[in-house]
Amino acid sequence: MAGLRWFASVAMQLLMILCLVRRSSSQCRFGAVLVNGVNGSTCLCDQGNYGDAAACLPCPKGTYKSEVGTARCRDCPLFSDSEKASISPNNCSCITGYTKISGECFRCLAPDNCAKIVSTREKIGVCGNCSLYFQYNDSGLHVDVGAADYQETLGGEKFCYCTYLDLSNRYLAKLGPSVFSKMRFLERLDLFGNYLASISATAFSNLPYLKQLYLQGNKMRYLPPGLFNNLTSLEGVYLDQNSLIVLEPDVFSGLDNLKTIYLESNNLEEISSSQFQNLGQLQTLEISYNYMVNCLDLPNVTVFQTGCSSP
Ligand SMILES: *[C@@H]1O[C@H](CO)[C@@H](O)[C@H](O)[C@H]1NC(C)=O
Ligand SMILES: *[C@@H]1O[C@H](CO)[C@@H](O)[C@H](O)[C@H]1NC(C)=O
Ligand SMILES: *[C@@H]1O[C@H](CO)[C@@H](O)[C@H](O)[C@H]1NC(C)=O
Ligand SMILES: *[C@@H]1O[C@H](CO)[C@@H](O)[C@H](O)[C@H]1NC(C)=O
Ligand SMILES: *[C@@H]1O[C@H](CO)[C@@H](O)[C@H](O)[C@H]1NC(C)=O
Ligand SMILES: *[C@@H]1O[C@H](CO)[C@@H](O)[C@H](O)[C@H]1NC(C)=O
Repeated sequence: MAGLRWFASVAMQLLMILCLVRRSSSQCRFGAVLVNGVNGSTCLCDQGNYGDAAACLPCPKGTYKSEVGTARCRDCPLFSDSEKASISPNNCSCITGYTKISGECFRCLAPDNCAKIVSTREKIGVCGNCSLYFQYNDSGLHVDVGAADYQETLGGEKFCYCTYLDLSNRYLAKLGPSVFSKMRFLERLDLFGNYLASISATAFSNLPYLKQLYLQGNKMRYLPPGLFNNLTSLEGVYLDQNSLIVLEPDVFSGLDNLKTIYLESNNLEEISSSQFQNLGQLQTLEISYNYMVNCLDLPNVTVFQTGCSSP
């Protein structure tokens, strides 16, 4: 009788433990794990997943997260890429034409010659009535025009008459100072789909006619102060799908013709309405898929923002 009772009580306890274990592991949503802390157990996003434990999401392609917890996904090193939900920088493989040397990806000039600096001057095509060359060195990309080419002369200086330049999807990582200064007639500049992480503050100086600037799908974490200072004709700036964390307070100031700003899918935590207050022509601000909690309300502007009432 006593044996039976002992057996029953042990079986009961086992059952309870089993129940507890089952309850606790299913308490966490997909992508989260239960972590024991001083205040009991909490669900936290697992390696390769980010967010709060109520909704963990896999780290996007090109990023990784090695820790369990609330940290962000980190970007893969320059010129490398990873699958979704990667857990380590080792999951980041160099893109085609690059090889990994102590964690960094270097461009291969030939299969057996991979180098950090690429300084060969390459012809990249014809724009308007000039030939264009680019040279890539430690200070970044430099664009220049062929010496014998047709150029417009203005105040004794020669400029290329080219209104649209497409430098998208070219593995560019850095833009040097005044890189487009020989192209002051540019109206549209495509730089999307590169690996731009570093842009000189004067990269876009001397482009008084530029209307559309496409910088989406790069690796920018911040914009240098004054980057858009002299772009007085700018109507649209596309900065979506970067890794922007903060915006300088006056990054768009003085851009009196700006109608469209795209900032979605970045890592912005805070944007203040005052950053857009003096943009008299602004019509559309797209800031969905960021980490912001405050909803922006700007008179006469259509604001697209995740979790806020649609306009
Ligand atoms: C545990 O809970 C106390 C009281 O709520 C809090 O002050 C403390 O920061 C918590 N500790 C951890 C590690 O979460
Ligand atoms: C990351 O690397 C680990 C170890 O090599 C591997 O097990 C895992 O499948 C990789 N993850 C992805 C998303 O490629
Ligand atoms: C990079 O190239 C540009 C253009 O040829 C040149 O002006 C600049 O001094 C170079 N910078 C370095 C660090 O080599
Ligand atoms: C370059 O193109 C512009 C626009 O088509 C034209 O006005 C200018 O005369 C051309 N310059 C030369 C040197 O051919
Ligand atoms: C560019 O902007 C700065 C600051 O607004 C100003 O001092 C400078 O003169 C401008 N340069 C040109 C070429 O317009
Ligand atoms: C919004 O637009 C209306 C009509 O064009 C205009 O009267 C008003 O001043 C604008 N408000 C702001 C804050 O720009």
